[in-house]
Amino acid sequence: MPATIIDGKAFAAKVRGQVAAHVARLREEHGLIPGLAVVLVGEDPASQVYVRNKGTQTLEVGMNSYEHKLAVDTSEADLLALIAKLNADPAVHGILVQLPLPAHLNSDLVINAIDPAKDVDGFHISNVGLLGTGQKSMVPCTPLGCLMMLRDHHGSLSGMNAVVVGRSNIVGKPMAQLLLGDSCTVTIAHSRTKDLAEVCRRADILVAAVGRAEMITGDMVKPGATVIDVGINRIERDGKAKLVGDVEFASAAEVAGAITPVPGGVGPMTIACLLANTLTACCRAKGLPEPEGLTA
Ligand code: GUN
Repeated sequence: MPATIIDGKAFAAKVRGQVAAHVARLREEHGLIPGLAVVLVGEDPASQVYVRNKGTQTLEVGMNSYEHKLAVDTSEADLLALIAKLNADPAVHGILVQLPLPAHLNSDLVINAIDPAKDVDGFHISNVGLLGTGQKSMVPCTPLGCLMMLRDHHGSLSGMNAVVVGRSNIVGKPMAQLLLGDSCTVTIAHSRTKDLAEVCRRADILVAAVGRAEMITGDMVKPGATVIDVGINRIERDGKAKLVGDVEFASAAEVAGAITPVPGGVGPMTIACLLANTLTACCRAKGLPEPEGLTA
C-alpha cells in the first residue's frame, strides 16, 4: 500500500488559522497585539526571501511585524545595541535574528543577547537547557512543526522507536529532545554512524535532517514507518533546477506508512510555528493562558 502523504502545507494553514483566531481574541479581550521583530544583516538572497515571507505571514495572522535590515558591515556593537532595544520594547514579544550572520559577527554571542523569553527561535542557551531538562521553554520552530505533524498523525508517540538522522543544534538535537519528551526511544544518527541503513530500519519514526540530497533511500525505511523529511536541497536533474529532500521520495514512499513531501511537507510548518511561538511568548509575557496545541 503506498504511503499516506502528510500535507504540511494544509497543516501549516490550519496552524496559522488557530494562531489568527487566538490573536483576534487577544485584541478584542485585552487590546493586545503580539509583535515579532526580525533582524536581517546583509543581503543574502535566500535570507531575504525567508524574511519577506515571515513578515507577510506575521501580518496575515494579525500580528505586528517589525523588520530591521542592517548593512552587511554592521558592527557587533551596533547589532547588540539593536537587540538590547528590542529586548526592552514592550510591543515586541518575539525576536528573530536571521542566520547565517556575516562571518565577522559571532552568532552565539548575538543569539545569547536576546531575552530568552523573546527568543522565538529557541536558540538561546537558556532555552536549549530548559528543553533538555524538560522544562517550559521556547522550542525551535522546525522540530516543533515536525512534532505537531507526528502527534496529529499518531496521537500518542509513547514507546515508539525514533531515529533522527542529523545532529544540528537547529533541528537534530532539539528534535531528539522533543521526541524523548513524548516518550519515544530516541537514537541520533549522523554522517559517522556505522551501518546507517540498519539503524534507520529500526525506526517507527524516521526524521531526516542531514542536508544531503536523497541520502535516505527506501531500503533504509522500515515497512509502515513514518518518515519526516526536513531536508531542502536544490539540485539539477535533466538540466532542470529541482528541490528535493534528504529522503529519496519515490523509493521511501513505497515502503513507509506515511511520509512528508518536499516541497510541501515540513517547510511550511517552520514559519507557522514561528508565529505560534510569538503568540506563546506574548501570552507568557502578559500572564495569559497559552494557546492549546501550539506548544510542545
Ligand atoms: N536561517 C535558516 N533557518 C533559520 C531559522 O529557523 N531561524 C533563523 N533565525 N535563521 C534561519
